[in-house]
Amino acid sequence: MTLREMTAWTRIGLAGAVLLSTVWVGSWTICEASAQDASFTGSGPAPKNPLSRDAAAVQAGRGLYQQRCAVCHGQDARGSMASNLVRSRIVARGSDAALFRILARGIPGTEMPPQADLEEIQVWQVVSYLHGLARPGLQPPVRGDVDAGRELFRAVGCSGCHRVDGEGGFWGPALDSIAARKTSEQIRADVLEPSSKVIEGFRSVVAQAADGRRIEGLLKNQDTFSVQILARDGTYAFLARSDIRVLESSSESAMPDYYGQTLRDEQLQDLLAFLDRQRDPFVPFDRGFQNY
Ligand code: HEC
Ligand code: HEC
Repeated sequence: MTLREMTAWTRIGLAGAVLLSTVWVGSWTICEASAQDASFTGSGPAPKNPLSRDAAAVQAGRGLYQQRCAVCHGQDARGSMASNLVRSRIVARGSDAALFRILARGIPGTEMPPQADLEEIQVWQVVSYLHGLARPGLQPPVRGDVDAGRELFRAVGCSGCHRVDGEGGFWGPALDSIAARKTSEQIRADVLEPSSKVIEGFRSVVAQAADGRRIEGLLKNQDTFSVQILARDGTYAFLARSDIRVLESSSESAMPDYYGQTLRDEQLQDLLAFLDRQRDPFVPFDRGFQNY
């Protein structure tokens, strides 16, 4: 008998049976989940963090972290007696629920204690705090006037070197995905102390060629046999290593380091708010190649 040949009643009966078995399997799954979590809250935690990206939750989570975790994992969660949590796979890539469970129950057989006396919502606050550190895209929005920041980005010259939405210069990296890649603290440091960490692909170099030429620019690429340098005028020099007498690289960034002095506090804040909204995960980090 095909489905088409069934009487209406048979079909309703069949649908009912399917529905019933779904409900049965579903409730069994729920029961099992709450049995597993019973040691902590009685009813299982929400599978997704209900507080994600909430600034107050992150703040509260930071407080709890300082009281309960910093002693082992370090003040900034970057490791001390116990591991670096910003780099932890579970924190950076695991599910919300997996991190919740580890925090709630601890890790048996290690020093990692269960947080059995915390409310469920407090555990989620700690999850929000850690995710904010390890997953820049999950940070709460940085405060500030985004439109004023966009305007400043042009007015103070950032757009002369950086592209956003396809507009701007090529000397620095495109910033469309900056806040999906970096935390607000890292971005602030990039703007105020560019030389503290120069990005690979943007290092300033000077090459003295064997024929006497002097080539200055950013070291875009190098291998055993060759070196590629991008000059400020946008031209590329492709040099064989055998033709280079000296290759000097600078530890200074090619980005100006005076913005800490020239920008007023609220201007900096507006600029950081604008950068914080650049979270497009589909624009990959680039090395300034695609213009050429
Ligand atoms: C007494 C020390 C101690 C305290 C306090 C502590 N931990 Fe841990 N934690 C550990 C140890 C030890 C491990 C397992 C080994 C390791 O990762 O260093 C661990 C592991 C973890 C892991 C798994 C890391 C991974 O990727 O394997 C997370 C996440 C974590 N802790 C978060 C926290 C949080 C959040 C708190 C505060 C609520 C906390 N820990 C408090 C010692 C501690
Ligand atoms: C003269 C060109 C130039 C100007 C002007 C400039 N930058 Fe940069 N910027 C760079 C270069 C080159 C790098 C990469 C080298 C480095 O890491 O210092 C960079 C790096 C950055 C980064 C890190 C990017 C990443 O992909 O991680 C940020 C954020 C940034 N700049 C923001 C700004 C802001 C905001 C302004 C304006 C206030 C600005 N820059 C002005 C050249 C410039």
